[in-house]
Amino acid sequence: MRIVLLGAPGAGKGTVAKLLTEYDGSVQISTGDILRSAVKQGTELGLKAKTYMEKGELVPDDLILEIIEERIKAPDCEKGFIFDGFPRTINQAQRLKELLKSMNLKLDAVINLDVPKEVILDRLTTRRTCSNPDCQEIYNIKSKPPSPDGRCLKCGWPVIQREDETEEAITKRLEVYNEKTAPLIKYYMEEGLLHNIRSLSSEEIVKEIIKILSESGNKTC
Ligand code: AP5
Repeated sequence: MRIVLLGAPGAGKGTVAKLLTEYDGSVQISTGDILRSAVKQGTELGLKAKTYMEKGELVPDDLILEIIEERIKAPDCEKGFIFDGFPRTINQAQRLKELLKSMNLKLDAVINLDVPKEVILDRLTTRRTCSNPDCQEIYNIKSKPPSPDGRCLKCGWPVIQREDETEEAITKRLEVYNEKTAPLIKYYMEEGLLHNIRSLSSEEIVKEIIKILSESGNKTC
């Protein structure tokens, strides 16, 4: 599958993307995970991205497109990819379209996870994330807790709150989402690719996505 998961911060894009990878071997491409890993490892990319991320602002489009171009040309993307947190601006979406066209590829669908604001706020304050840059498994102290001593159930690293989970950064991220990313809903509707999903359980969302893809003739679903 080649899809985009759209949705506000905390809508569940990362959780759903991880579940979808188990379905047909498509890989999750989370620009947020890639950037957090670069920050943790202190790479040049990480140094450039850190200040934007801590403030809840978007990292410049050119930097993001460079990451995406390199990532989707990697051999493990041949079976497909699930974009989680990308594109985030109309410019990113237009440049993605050109990039895919140059590779003779196109998106199968864009899924908008439509979650009420009060649910979003609750999820963001109760989320915990594995601190291992190569794992970044997502937990929630209410709905999906880590081990009782606060460790990742997959790799055993400590589970932490992300640096952009301060009240100030969350408020900024939601503002940035409304201003820069929400217009993508209309953009993809006009491209004929948008599907809105209102379900609240991740398992139900995954089932709906598989149904959408099989109805649109995706052979892997
Ligand atoms: P990024 O990491 O992409 O953050 P985000 O979009 O703000 O999304 P989140 O990761 O916060 O939420 P999510 O929708 O994945 O929800 P999750 O599954 O974790 O980006 C971080 C920063 O990087 C940006 O602010 C920006 O600076 C930069 N950046 C990244 N991409 C960029 C780009 N393309 N351009 C420019 N800058 C970029 O779920 C949330 C919580 O809810 C979890 O605890 C989870 O367990 C729980 N949960 C999820 N689903 C359910 C459910 N169905 N029921 C109950 N609980 C649930």
